[in-house]
Amino acid sequence: MPDYNVGILGATGAVGQKFIRLLQDHPWFTIKALGASQRSAGKPYKDAANWIENSVMPDSVSGLTVRDCKSADFADVDFVFSGLDSSVATEIEADFANAGIPVISNAKNYRTDPTVPLLIPEVNPDHIELIHQQKFTSDGSGWIVTNPNCVVVPLVTTLKPLQDAFGIESVILTSMQAISGAGYPGVPSLDIMGNVIPLIGGEEPKIHEEPLKLLGTLKGDKIEHANFPVQATATRVPVINGHMLSVTVGLKQRADAKEAERVMREWKSPIANLNLPTAPPRPIQIHDDERYPQPRLHADSENGMQTAVGRMRNANVLDITYVAMAHNTVRGAAGGAILNAELLVKKGFIK
Ligand SMILES: NC(=O)c1ccc[n+]([C@@H]2O[C@H](COP(=O)([O-])OP(=O)(O)OC[C@H]3O[C@@H](n4cnc5c(N)ncnc54)[C@H](OP(=O)(O)O)[C@@H]3O)[C@@H](O)[C@H]2O)c1
Repeated sequence: MPDYNVGILGATGAVGQKFIRLLQDHPWFTIKALGASQRSAGKPYKDAANWIENSVMPDSVSGLTVRDCKSADFADVDFVFSGLDSSVATEIEADFANAGIPVISNAKNYRTDPTVPLLIPEVNPDHIELIHQQKFTSDGSGWIVTNPNCVVVPLVTTLKPLQDAFGIESVILTSMQAISGAGYPGVPSLDIMGNVIPLIGGEEPKIHEEPLKLLGTLKGDKIEHANFPVQATATRVPVINGHMLSVTVGLKQRADAKEAERVMREWKSPIANLNLPTAPPRPIQIHDDERYPQPRLHADSENGMQTAVGRMRNANVLDITYVAMAHNTVRGAAGGAILNAELLVKKGFIK
């Protein structure tokens, strides 16, 4: 059984706390070190973090002293997960990679770097090879891998079978995003209670760009990006967990909703045989009941790692239309990063 000591950067934040909860009983990874800002460094974790997970803070971390996010203070870990605020992730993650400590990050900062894999293990596991293009250390021991924006995960997971079967011409979507996606304390209650906010600053460009890298093809040492327009409207809704998307897709090779649903049902995950502990047995679940999926009922399906799909139908504009939903801080953040780490172990990138 693999056995690694891990650190968490941004451990006091919403994503950092999710890492702690998901790693609590992980069979391969043991939390050794927690890092956050200088506001938190030096304090016991239980005093530094405003714990918002709906389970008791694990004893194994409550007494750990929070460290400054400096690579020199993390010499005792094999790699780090990052849930750092994007205002500081660029420098801190590079410092760790330069020191030969691999970084598996949720932050947006390196997602579009042509040498950094933007990874969903079920979609583009071969992109992992980009790591060899990174120059942080001469021996290749330090590198960065990222996971996508939390809307992009259910979007691309459902587009992948369609792309493989029919090709994609264009995508239009509206996201209805949970408030946990804004971190803590996040959106003021007076803004979000009984309301919908029609803009999430900075979100739409990520939804436009990241799918094209994820659905791109590894050619030699580069990703040739997919080439289709994505038009997104990102909204915030009064839901705690689970981002819902209404997606309409134009296909290169015409197909109707029945055929689209069939290819999604028949699609086989390329990592299905690797026995990764966090991999959901069914990455996509198609609901027949037209009332589903719903964030409150289905965000936790398969430990929050499954993408739920429903209401697949023929579209009046473009070809097919459906809703997709996934847990934003699990599948869209910490759980996705943990699955990335498991794949990186299996493929021999984490020594
Ligand atoms: N929430 C989601 O659904 C989601 C999904 C996907 C990706 N992400 C990304 O994941 C990252 C974390 O998001 P979040 O929602 O967890 O944010 P958050 O709750 O605001 O947490 C931010 C973390 O960054 C730390 N930090 C801030 N300034 C720092 C500094 N100068 N040096 C070191 N650490 C510093 C904070 O430590 P202190 O407590 O000490 O300030 C805290 O631990 C962001 O990049 C976000 O875009 C979030």
